[in-house]
Amino acid sequence: MNIPIILGIESSCDDTSAAVIQGRKILSHVTAHQKVHQKYGGVVPEMASRAHQQNIVPVIHQAILEANIQKKDISAIAFTKGPGLMGSLLVGVSFAKSMAMALDIPLIEVNHIQAHILAHFIDDANEKPPNFPFLCLTVSGGHTQIVLIKDYFDMEILGETLDDAAGEAFDKIGKMLGLDYPAGAEIDKLAQKGNPEKFTFTMPKVDKLNFSFSGLKTAVLYFLEKENKKNSNFISENLNDLCASVQKTIIEILIQKLKSAALEYNISNIAIAGGVSANSGLRNALIKEELSGLWVCSIPKFEYTTDNAAMIALVGSLKFDKKEFVDLSVSASARSF
Ligand code: KG4
Ligand code: ZN
Repeated sequence: MNIPIILGIESSCDDTSAAVIQGRKILSHVTAHQKVHQKYGGVVPEMASRAHQQNIVPVIHQAILEANIQKKDISAIAFTKGPGLMGSLLVGVSFAKSMAMALDIPLIEVNHIQAHILAHFIDDANEKPPNFPFLCLTVSGGHTQIVLIKDYFDMEILGETLDDAAGEAFDKIGKMLGLDYPAGAEIDKLAQKGNPEKFTFTMPKVDKLNFSFSGLKTAVLYFLEKENKKNSNFISENLNDLCASVQKTIIEILIQKLKSAALEYNISNIAIAGGVSANSGLRNALIKEELSGLWVCSIPKFEYTTDNAAMIALVGSLKFDKKEFVDLSVSASARSF
């Protein structure tokens, strides 16, 4: 029997992405990153949907070309239904619906956050994909959650941020430091040359397995304002140390809660997902705890951490096996569903 081929489409935020998967093997994966938001210090929703409109046809065309398949070989189309920016989601959803109708093939809706987690099960994503049950720290620009995953589609959120997401903390603090949006990867790079012990920021006290990052953001803002008054070159003279110290604090907040969750639920299989899981400091902190025997951690390949359609295609493949299709009345959903 031929293994079904699924086209995945992702357009929830500022990346237009398409991927072709056969079973769990990625045949192609094409992403157009939108540079237009850089100078605004954050994603401008109206511009994001316009850029998706421009990118979606060439990106999908390229993905089909690189997969070395014909449109008629596609068994189903999987798309991100949400959560995300409505104007961005609508571009992907409308395109997926039209294409499914034209090719007369089934349509599969995908939850973006579930897809980040299930990206671990792409064939080449991970040398050791997590065993069920596992805990996943999902950290992106829009989300920070600890999720208990009992099976592919049996997930329970144990804790989440009460205000900003971890990626948002990286991006907003990066903006204060004069870095371009999104700042996470740049802070990561600069932090490697800095001293994480140079500056200390207070850890937030948050109930249960929830997180908070807005206090850290304000603390850094006041600290920078105070130091800038004494020395107007403070940021440029201390940039690496500031990045290292902020990154260390964010990682400590994340790891502390993950440890509490692992203890409370007696689970030693840990995974990370989402854009912030590309962070080298976070990866090292997880590995350090693995070496100390606390847990076994699954860390996905970089290309499957930030927004990508490969993860959407993977979920499409899993749902295709269960014949979980939606009809053409389906719509985008800004919130999780
Ligand atoms: O998952 P993602 O691509 O999009 C959302 O669904 O939000 O995550 C984007 C976030 C941004 O906040 C970006 O700054 C952050 O991931 N990020 C990083 C790194 N690479 C991307 N944060 C810290 N360290 C990195 N290396
Ligand atoms: Zn994402």
